[in-house]
Amino acid sequence: MGEPTVLVADDEIGLRESVERTLRREGFRVLQAEDGQAALDALRQSGVDLLLADLRMPGLDGLELLRAAKLLTPEVEVIVLSGHGTVEEAVQAMKEGAYDFLTKPLERAHLVRAVRQALEHRALVLENRSLQRRLDELVGAGEIIGESAAIRQVLALVKQVAPSASTVLIQGESGTGKELVARALHEGSPRGGRPFIRVNCAALPETLLESELFGYERGAFTGAAARKEGRFELADGGTLLLDEVGDLSAVTQAKLLRVLQEGEFERLGATKTLRVDVRIVVATNRDLALLVKEGRFREDLYYRLNVITIEVPPLRERAEDIPLLAQHFLCVHAAKNHRTIDGFTEAALARLRAYPWPGNVRELEHAVERAVVLARGSLIDLADLPPAVSQAEPVARVVAIPLGMPLDEVEQRLIEETLALTKGNKELAAKLLGIASRTIYRKLKE
Ligand SMILES: Nc1ncnc2c1ncn2[C@@H]1O[C@H](COP(=O)(O)OP(=O)(O)OP(=O)(O)O)[C@@H](O)[C@H]1O
Ligand SMILES: [Mg+2]
Repeated sequence: MGEPTVLVADDEIGLRESVERTLRREGFRVLQAEDGQAALDALRQSGVDLLLADLRMPGLDGLELLRAAKLLTPEVEVIVLSGHGTVEEAVQAMKEGAYDFLTKPLERAHLVRAVRQALEHRALVLENRSLQRRLDELVGAGEIIGESAAIRQVLALVKQVAPSASTVLIQGESGTGKELVARALHEGSPRGGRPFIRVNCAALPETLLESELFGYERGAFTGAAARKEGRFELADGGTLLLDEVGDLSAVTQAKLLRVLQEGEFERLGATKTLRVDVRIVVATNRDLALLVKEGRFREDLYYRLNVITIEVPPLRERAEDIPLLAQHFLCVHAAKNHRTIDGFTEAALARLRAYPWPGNVRELEHAVERAVVLARGSLIDLADLPPAVSQAEPVARVVAIPLGMPLDEVEQRLIEETLALTKGNKELAAKLLGIASRTIYRKLKE
């Protein structure tokens, strides 16, 4: 990267020279332009980070230069220099995206401070942008696979809340991908390079769970031969996923509430209070609101956790993702098992789509894995699928329509799904939908 580059555009050579001297001494690279046109040329060519633009210049003036710069090189920060009688224009410049303005004669300390702040601001903007790109790649690279409206909504929400430090509650049936969502939240946050720690709250009895979460001092209980750091400490600076949080005991719920409220806790058997900086993400396949009603989950804790909720929909409500997911798991497990399998027979694919998948994506993955191992041909057939799937009673096919979906999209979805059901037979689909077949052709063309 090297030192930041500042371009000074002013028709007064004395001012340019003095700004250059001051900023050079502060370790910046400085370029000069004697008018707006020369400044534009320099902007286009030479990696400028910050532009100092005089408002009054012959030819292209400061405001025009600002507008052009914002169009051509939007990532460059601009500070305008206003002389006597140009204050109104300076205000206008701020409205149009200048970061700051300085009045002449320039005061050295002022100049240096403004330049530093503008560059810091720019670095922040760039960092955010690269974070966003990383997240786009992550999602684009197919970590969380799916194109359905339902999964796109989840991904959009993940993208939106990942950068914040808010607690996130992820709800969804078993096997829907809650842990994957939690990881995406972590990866997309500024904590992405720090630890991601997961604790399964359902897997351990209460006392063990507490020592896992908070750690303990030597001698805290029988068998505590040495001090141990808890998961909260291990996750410092990063993200802690409390999985199956609906299964926490009342005592552990109270301790967790305290960490959430005050950010502090003690190791078991310790007197010293510890503080950590941890983003908490919790996941559960239970209905927490219901548990609250039944008195099995603390209401205050529920409200603490329920700042932002992400609902991961069951697979049967995003059946259009099934072929994509199946193909993905096919590739993964074919490679793992050194098998060459090209895909699925039509019958197998139709059954995969129709099956309701009570175990969601995890069940689908296991079914495909098994089929990859068993398949005798280069295509996975109905007989290669688990009996529960291949012999399932055909169920009525449904299309999940989120409330508020535009009507023409609803229509489009219904037509597509019906066509999938009729295996592309448009005459039959039209009959089922009660419309003329030429209407289907027309709608499809739209
Ligand atoms: N959209 C998806 N794209 C690719 N893989 C997925 C997707 N959703 C889930 N998986 C895979 O399915 C499996 C189950 O996902 P995960 O463990 O995240 O589910 P879960 O909701 O946490 O389940 P449980 O409630 O049982 O813990 C994992 O192997 C995961 O990688
Ligand atoms: Mg899980």
